[in-house]
Amino acid sequence: MQSKKNTYYIFNYGCQMNASDTEHYAGQLEEMGYVPAEDFHTADVIIVNTCCVRESAEKKIAGKIGELKAVKTAHPQTVICVAGCMAQKDGDKLLKKHPQVDLLLGTAYVNDFKSILADYLSDRQGGVYTDLTIHQSEFEGKMVRQSSFAAWIPIMYGCNNFCTYCIVPYVRGRERSRDIENIVAEIEQAVKEGYKEFTLLGQNVNSYGKDFGEKDAFAKLLRRVNEINGVERIHYMTSHPRDMNEEVIKAVAECEHVCENFHVPFQSGSNEILKKMNRGYSREKYLELIKLIRQYVPDAAITTDIIVGFPGETEADFQDTLNLVQEVGFDAAFTFIYSKRSGTPAAKMTEQVPLEIKKQRLNQLMEAQNASSLRCNEKLVGQQVEVLAEGPSKNPAVWTGRTRTNKLVLWPAEGKNYYPGEKVMVLVDAAQTWLVKGKAVQDE
Ligand code: SAH
Ligand code: SF4
Ligand code: F3S
Repeated sequence: MQSKKNTYYIFNYGCQMNASDTEHYAGQLEEMGYVPAEDFHTADVIIVNTCCVRESAEKKIAGKIGELKAVKTAHPQTVICVAGCMAQKDGDKLLKKHPQVDLLLGTAYVNDFKSILADYLSDRQGGVYTDLTIHQSEFEGKMVRQSSFAAWIPIMYGCNNFCTYCIVPYVRGRERSRDIENIVAEIEQAVKEGYKEFTLLGQNVNSYGKDFGEKDAFAKLLRRVNEINGVERIHYMTSHPRDMNEEVIKAVAECEHVCENFHVPFQSGSNEILKKMNRGYSREKYLELIKLIRQYVPDAAITTDIIVGFPGETEADFQDTLNLVQEVGFDAAFTFIYSKRSGTPAAKMTEQVPLEIKKQRLNQLMEAQNASSLRCNEKLVGQQVEVLAEGPSKNPAVWTGRTRTNKLVLWPAEGKNYYPGEKVMVLVDAAQTWLVKGKAVQDE
């Protein structure tokens, strides 16, 4: 008689680092014999992998954890685990508020999940694992990647920057770089499994290797990964404008497989605000960096993150942000309303900006950015772009994929059976704010 297999369900929130952690959780569960559940209501193990970078994220996630109360009541044997940054931040407090939670797993325990779960199943004693001083162990084992051709590769954990608005350094701990040989081994293994596109992850990839005392380690890492047979595209995120330098830009320019997209968050265009944010660069330095990028990689797509309504931001400060957006002409920007994170220095600053003003500024900024995105995309009309196919769009007769510069491309399949990860040349004939459209051209 075949017994029913145990099942798991993972809710994932937050940044790519969390997406990668989720792949590690899923891998460990599958090693233990679990299979994905169709419906979380009946799963044997549920993980909520959380984010606390903004209040809006936390509220949404708290609602989801609340929903799991009914699941636990209906199926008391279900193991409910809250993992990630919110678990790290709130620890016991979260457990008191949500007694349906069995396990709380901070950010340094991702790779120990298997043994933690096994312990829990043997004695059903819940636990809180939030010590950030332990070193995250190197991952050895199965991983369930979301994509069949694109892989997240963490190259470092944590952040030492303490930007005054940001909670990440408190919940991810100090910077720890992975050994280059481990990174290379993971990529080589993924290539064997059919992966082609790799995104190297870290909160500040430009300081990769500093903890080993190595100079220009990130540029060297890019060059090394570029040499791995079978690697077609390399991306990385996030770059910090203070630490990004000519060596890295040169490596991008010279390495065939490193893609020409630069994600360089500037956060604010006002020097006064940048200082209060503890960002460690000025508007002028940032513009010099952009100039250098354009000099080495003229066709680069440049994207950024921006915060409006940081404490003390005046209308003049905001105008500095707006005109920086216009001056640089970003391909895309993630724009955020400043969110007060208790425990960070900015939360204690007086002169918090009223929500109404923050919203107005965000709208104005998004309008300017949308115009800029459209202008950048229009430049592609008439050009042939190399696309890695992702999958059909909502309309199954139209396929989607991305250029090396990470732009979304749509084209009619015209009866052809594409597969995810397939390289397709597309002649772009129309541009919109968020995507371009075109037709596949026959590869000679
Ligand atoms: N390490 C990366 C990403 C950090 S989080 C970096 O430094 O760029 C991603 C983005 O969230 C940040 O770039 C910032 O724009 C935004 N962010 C962080 N904390 C925030 C806060 N308290 N309120 C609003 N946006 C915030
Ligand atoms: Fe947060 Fe700044 Fe670190 Fe990015 S660099 S994670 S914004 S503290
Ligand atoms: Fe969120 Fe943690 Fe990432 S707070 S943005 S999931 S590092």
